[in-house]
Amino acid sequence: MGRVFVAGSINMDVVATANRHPKVGETVAGKEVHYFPGGKGANQAVAAAKLGAPSTLIGRLGTDVFGQQLRQFLAAQGVDLALVKDTADIHTGTAVITIADADNTIVVVPGANALVSAEDVAAPLLAKGDVAVSQFEIPQPTISAFFKRARAAGATTILNPAPATMFAPELLDLVDVLILNETELGFLTRTELHDTDDPARFIEAARSLLTGPNRIICVTLGKRGVLALIGGDASMIAGRPVKALDTTGAGDCFVGAVAAQLAGGMTVRDALNYANAAASICVQRMGAGPSMPTAAEVAALRG
Ligand code: RIB
Ligand code: NA
Repeated sequence: MGRVFVAGSINMDVVATANRHPKVGETVAGKEVHYFPGGKGANQAVAAAKLGAPSTLIGRLGTDVFGQQLRQFLAAQGVDLALVKDTADIHTGTAVITIADADNTIVVVPGANALVSAEDVAAPLLAKGDVAVSQFEIPQPTISAFFKRARAAGATTILNPAPATMFAPELLDLVDVLILNETELGFLTRTELHDTDDPARFIEAARSLLTGPNRIICVTLGKRGVLALIGGDASMIAGRPVKALDTTGAGDCFVGAVAAQLAGGMTVRDALNYANAAASICVQRMGAGPSMPTAAEVAALRG
């Protein structure tokens, strides 16, 4: 079995729930406040670990109390933290999140995540069969350096280009599996996709990112499911009907599950189906990091 290496962000999510989101300039009364472990990198590493893959996180924390709490949480989930550095004089990444009607808004302040460097990603010993995962909450040159090393070692690379950020086209050349949501797809392809439910529009946009013959593209479409482009063939995996409570981290659950299953030797198509089931559990629970399912929970759901 291969290992999963995630180079990415680690955040404390400060979450306020309310009956509705405030408009700009408005104050609304909230209901609850929570401090949930989050950050796209950490969430993906937790998902992979809980689903049974050896999972190593590469990242940075501040030396503040959030940093200590996150380290404790991640260790308890079985994530290998040997490559997570404490960094003086900067705060731990923090996301301020509002949730109303299961929809969220997020402001993320990178703090220590902005200092994850090419040297940091030079440490892990990647091997053939391993899976290297990253997202856009750490600097892009770091991601490039990480994926170059992964490629040289024969590992599979997964990029989750979130949050939507422009990137150098060369980065895409280093990616085997691209996993993104419809907002990120619209942003990267400069296509308006919010007004449509037409699969053909999503397929057309996704195809324009298929610049390598072997690239796999996977567009997560919330409750509508997942669009997969594998070897140029497009197919839909239907969403599982569930009542969402908090969708924060659902995309991360999906990415971590795909990484874990590819490291375990599953085919891509089976891994995507598995990840679709895992994410449907995640959305029914509050919080990002704490909502990742175990392998036993996914197995019970899939029957
Ligand atoms: O993808 C969800 C994550 O995005 C949250 O946990 C928050 O920390 C932001 O990074
Ligand atoms: Na959740």
